[in-house]
Amino acid sequence: MADLATKDIPKTEIYKLIIGCIVPRPIGWVATLGADGVANLAPFSFFNGVANNPPTVAFSVIDRGSELKDTSRNVGDVPEFVVHIVSEELAEQMNQTCGDYGAHISEFEQAGLTPLPGTAVRVPRIKEAKVALECRVSHNIRVGPSCSHILGEVLFWHLDDGILMERGRVDPDKLRAVGRMGGLEYTRTRDRFAIDRPVIPDEDPRSVAAYRAMALAAKP
Ligand SMILES: Cc1cc2nc3c(=O)[nH]c(=O)nc-3n(C[C@H](O)[C@H](O)[C@H](O)COP(=O)(O)O)c2cc1C
Repeated sequence: MADLATKDIPKTEIYKLIIGCIVPRPIGWVATLGADGVANLAPFSFFNGVANNPPTVAFSVIDRGSELKDTSRNVGDVPEFVVHIVSEELAEQMNQTCGDYGAHISEFEQAGLTPLPGTAVRVPRIKEAKVALECRVSHNIRVGPSCSHILGEVLFWHLDDGILMERGRVDPDKLRAVGRMGGLEYTRTRDRFAIDRPVIPDEDPRSVAAYRAMALAAKP
């Protein structure tokens, strides 16, 4: 067992530990718009859904040396973004959009992706993606000297017909989302298992029944 205080770990190692320990991470494939009207696209695996009311997602952008990445600069200029979920068939194209292209170059074009106009935001979305969430920036927080943590409220949802099941559930076998591991590795979402929620023993049988009903209703 290694027991380490952060202050004793070299800075270069900390990134490797974070991306190696916190796995798998979902990937938010984020479209933004520059002040000059150029659409930008980049993947971020410091990404998650963080609230349901209002529906909110968050991602973190680490500066490139002493400069903001295009995504951080763009959300400062146009505080909107569209986040897409990366399915297996789009993984290669997602990877192409992480290249360090100049701000005047659109990754949509570089990766051969089709931009569609946004409905609730000015930022375009990827036609080929099965999930595209149009968001308005709600918080833009600097974390330490070199990271922007950006939260956005989801204003509009684009969900491919093929991924929806009955009762509004999303079929993971149709979505085929990929996650990011450490290094250059990714994971699929095909190997899954279910676990029943615990039923808390209680002397009052009505509360057990109520809990069981609640757990069943909440089951994903
Ligand atoms: C799967 C994947 C996940 C990534 N996650 C992050 C991340 O969470 N934060 C970050 O700053 N960069 C991340 N990157 C690198 C950015 O995508 C890359 O720096 C990109 O060029 C930023 O684009 P921009 O300058 O257009 O904003 C990731 C790259 C890949 C391939």
